[in-house]
Amino acid sequence: MKITSKELRNKWLNFYEQRGHVNIGAVSLIGDGTTGVMFNVAGMQPLMPYLLGKKHPMGTRLCNVQGCVRTVDIDSVGDASHFTFFEMMGNWSLGDYFKKEKTAWTFELLTKEFGLDKNKICATVFEGNDSVPRDNETAELLEKLGVKKENIFFKPKEDNWWELEGTVGTPCGPDNEWFYPLVDTPCGRPNCDIDCKCGRYVEIGNDVYMQYKKTATGYEPLSNKNVDTGFGFERMLMFLNGIKDGYKTDLFAGVLSYLEKELGIKYGENEETTKSMRIIADHMRTTVMLIGDVNGIVPSNVGAGYILRRIMRRAVRHAKKINLDVNKLCEVAKIYMTQVYNEAYPLLVEKQDYILAEIQKEIDKFNRALEQGLKEFDKVLFGIEKHKEFAAKSGEKVENIISGKASFRLYDTFGFPIELTKEMAAERGYSVDEDGFKAAFEEHQEKSKGVGKGEFKSGLQDTTYETTRLHTATHMLNAALKKVLGPESHQMGSNITPERLRFDFPCDHKMTDEELAQVEELVNEWIKQKLPVSSREMNKMDAVKIGAEHQFIERYPDIVSVYDIGDVSREICTGPHVKNTSELGTFKIVKEESCSAGVRRIKAVLQ
Ligand code: ALA
Repeated sequence: MKITSKELRNKWLNFYEQRGHVNIGAVSLIGDGTTGVMFNVAGMQPLMPYLLGKKHPMGTRLCNVQGCVRTVDIDSVGDASHFTFFEMMGNWSLGDYFKKEKTAWTFELLTKEFGLDKNKICATVFEGNDSVPRDNETAELLEKLGVKKENIFFKPKEDNWWELEGTVGTPCGPDNEWFYPLVDTPCGRPNCDIDCKCGRYVEIGNDVYMQYKKTATGYEPLSNKNVDTGFGFERMLMFLNGIKDGYKTDLFAGVLSYLEKELGIKYGENEETTKSMRIIADHMRTTVMLIGDVNGIVPSNVGAGYILRRIMRRAVRHAKKINLDVNKLCEVAKIYMTQVYNEAYPLLVEKQDYILAEIQKEIDKFNRALEQGLKEFDKVLFGIEKHKEFAAKSGEKVENIISGKASFRLYDTFGFPIELTKEMAAERGYSVDEDGFKAAFEEHQEKSKGVGKGEFKSGLQDTTYETTRLHTATHMLNAALKKVLGPESHQMGSNITPERLRFDFPCDHKMTDEELAQVEELVNEWIKQKLPVSSREMNKMDAVKIGAEHQFIERYPDIVSVYDIGDVSREICTGPHVKNTSELGTFKIVKEESCSAGVRRIKAVLQ
């Protein structure tokens, strides 16, 4: 290993810190509801307001390594380069330096720190269009630094323009992408370059010159000229170590050798088992990160929780497929928490028992039905084959399609997410009638008048008025528990749906009826007092000093919002909240139960 993941992380941060950048740390992986994106998908996402011109309290030069979750490519996970969780090494100029400094620093980092050969470095820049001019300036700067003229390519918007798709009001701009040949031997074609399909050249990162704002109809210039740099951490790690398979970096070494030992097989030897091993390795890493996040989630049937469920159940299915005892997925999770991310994400170490308990719960839930579900799945395919045989006699053609009804039954009775059924079907040469599935699903919802349609809403966070009210109630519950159980009581997990809140906290006993009644009374008393809810932004350490409730301070951005509810509660939080407690109605605890050892869970509603 030429450079380890821990070394790379430090190298990036040190390089930019030495050039006046402040490390702002990573923020939550879960979207805060302001961008309409469910997860944090890019390093720049948390910096959006500042790229648009708001003053960042830590200054105009920032850097970090930010975790991102992207699930659009989830079906590609299993190959050598796709991940659902990855990290982005970033640095930013907020109206500070621009192209001259940025090109020089990236070039210096690549050639001096990482030892790349300047003669092999390739770069692409924006060729211009009707609204934005050709980026000759960057091309000239690159050439002066020592990038060969023939290695600089002008490209159109499809290649050299960066924006968050599907959003409006977000910063964007032309970018300068950096490429390098991953392997030294040319592919044999005379003009093998970055456009060659041989895959020799890989993009290692990009410098975006964010000076535009995306509007509903086009782009408008920003007053700030910003730089937004992003280099993929895993990608860079592969590349600097001359590895073509992202799973062969030290991030996955512990997990894969554990799996090899358990299974008695070698990674890379067999295509099918290798794919399953990668899916397990990737999905369990994302699982750990999502449950262990500062705004941690647990598997559920809606929104982000559903994505997590899909990921976890897919991991369980692949474990089963390669005869790995499904309970061993907890061991896989443990390796990430204790060996790989223990330094960069100390929160995972702190939350380890809770994370493992949540993983085990979901495994148990799914595993109970999995065996039966797999049998049912085989039966469905068998049925289609029989139908085919029968129909062939009359010349009728039957297609390899699993009906909506059958896939809904697999979902409803056996807990198979539709995506899982689709994947299993595809492996056997079948497809699924998805419209039929949706219709069956909706019909069922109508009948049970339940919730859950959110699964198809894809993308948007649930920020209805109901969830906002429950969010404020959650802060009050937290405050009330401190009064009744003692000041050491605090939030360990929280989950809100439009129907109810759920709150996990440390407590060594089943709460007595009296304690529960006291908590309820306190919250209802505060509701009656019509307390105002207010928020302000401040440096996170100042927030801690004034006693704002927080979970894992190192995971917050440096500037946080502090919400006060009268003088009964003060918490660091991203909101949203109601304006006054009088909006809440009556608070009622509907359940108190054990969550894991030493942790209790309350479910409560507003009536
Ligand atoms: N925002 C740019 C990216 O995500 C840097 O690649």
